Amino acid sequence: MAEKIEVLIPEEKVTERIKELGEQISKDYEGKEIHMICILKGGVFFMVDLSKRVSVPVSLDFMSVSSYGNGTKSSGVVRIAKDLDESIEGKDVIIVEDIIDSGRTLYYLMDILKKRNPNSIRLCTLLDKPERREKDVTVDYVGFEIPDEFVVGYGLDYAQNYRNLPYIGVVKGVE
Ligand code: IMP
Ligand code: MG
Repeated sequence: MAEKIEVLIPEEKVTERIKELGEQISKDYEGKEIHMICILKGGVFFMVDLSKRVSVPVSLDFMSVSSYGNGTKSSGVVRIAKDLDESIEGKDVIIVEDIIDSGRTLYYLMDILKKRNPNSIRLCTLLDKPERREKDVTVDYVGFEIPDEFVVGYGLDYAQNYRNLPYIGVVKGVE
């Protein structure tokens, strides 16, 4: 791995922000139960930490959608690699994603999931790159808005590496 990683958001800031999001979500869903859907693999680290900060009952499920190859550019192809294990009918769903970039993945996914008749469905992302948006998706909870740079860590990868970094970093020297 020859790339250089520069810290963009340090670990303490990520932890603090996730705590705030957890408190906000707990308030918004008072008296309800939340069914969190993690978008694999990138959303795992965020969902684990976020769900621990939510005080209402939470159930979890996982889905894997691929829209990217091993590089940093979108292939434009979105495919369900692993579907949910449980039905979302009548549930209050929060989709937990690592990053919204072009918005293509979530635009496609929200459409599919809405047809499965959840009671409600919201989107929560750790990172948002609004400058890169191509598809209009409503993001209900955002950890951090970031500039148009390729980032890794806290679940985000570059060719499957760096997901386990405890902070968000920018990869230098990639196209
Ligand atoms: P979108 O469909 O363009 O919004 O792409 C979303 C997906 O692309 C995310 O779930 C990530 O897996 C990946 N992605 C987009 N930007 C980055 C980045 O800066 N670093 C790592 N992965 C990224
Ligand atoms: Mg992803």
